Amino acid sequence: MKKVILDVDTGIDDALGIVLAVKSGLLDIRAITTVCGNVSLEQATLNTCKIMDLLHRPDIPVYKGANAPLVRNHYDEKRIHGEDGMGGALKNEAPHATPSDGFAPDIMINLAKQHPGELTLVCTGPLTNLANALLKCPELPRFVKEVIFMGGVIHGPGNVTPVAEYNMYADPEAARIVFHAGFGRLVQVGLDVTRKALLTAEHVAQLADPQLQAFVKESTADYTKRYEARYGVRACALHDPLAVGVAIDSGLVHMSSLYVDIETSSRLCDGQTVGDVQSRLGQPPNMAVCEEVDSTAFLELFVREVGKPAMSPAGQGEHKPILG
Ligand code: BDR
Ligand code: CA
Repeated sequence: MKKVILDVDTGIDDALGIVLAVKSGLLDIRAITTVCGNVSLEQATLNTCKIMDLLHRPDIPVYKGANAPLVRNHYDEKRIHGEDGMGGALKNEAPHATPSDGFAPDIMINLAKQHPGELTLVCTGPLTNLANALLKCPELPRFVKEVIFMGGVIHGPGNVTPVAEYNMYADPEAARIVFHAGFGRLVQVGLDVTRKALLTAEHVAQLADPQLQAFVKESTADYTKRYEARYGVRACALHDPLAVGVAIDSGLVHMSSLYVDIETSSRLCDGQTVGDVQSRLGQPPNMAVCEEVDSTAFLELFVREVGKPAMSPAGQGEHKPILG
């Protein structure tokens, strides 16, 4: 099993990504690290702890990371995720799970060095934690197996500005550091594919775990309305869960090797990920860009894994129902 760190700004779809990663039992999750993004660092961490409670997995450590982007002011995404970041779901829960001592960028460095060539980072928020890790430890890419990040778009419009996707827009300087760090395998899961990973009421109805079904239904209710208002489709995009899906099974997507840079000094285009599709810049590819997705296969995976009976706290992968 892949050894994984999930780096999240929990967020409705981050929460669903965590649920997919944990419930599937198909990833060896060594840590979950939090970052400011959709909501503040504190709220993202609280939300993550609530999800660990929901999953009965307080044993997976949660570490806090950056509470602000590298150089910019925090730009949150509460208009999409709600004031609390989870669309009001689990609002009154006081989680038993608590964050562990340690700073997310240090955890990334330490785990990568403990397991050279084995660690996959799945980043579903702004890339601030990973950029901070690289600033501390520029040789980090030598120790990391792969980085899979949800962010950006190559062929279509943005979702915050006409050209920028949220995670890239929130901290483009951090993304720039990551793009040019020299990772052997850097995978972009951008809006090109995540806009095709659409969860509908029919999918939610198929989730066989009643507690998870209730959570998915409640957390995505407003999110779905906003998606429908913008795109005319009654569904919600599983941006972050698709990045987790690619970590589980890269066969879900078709990728192209491309040189991609990000705009950081423009009046209109900050956060735009620019893919050099015609090799005009003469640079070697620096990432694998997901261009196509088998969305049916991905939604099948999501419904099957998220919907299956709850696991016992002790036995990840055993999928024993929890009694009582
Ligand atoms: C990304 O931005 C956030 O709002 C979501 O959690 C996701 O990571 C989609 O653009
Ligand atoms: Ca996110």
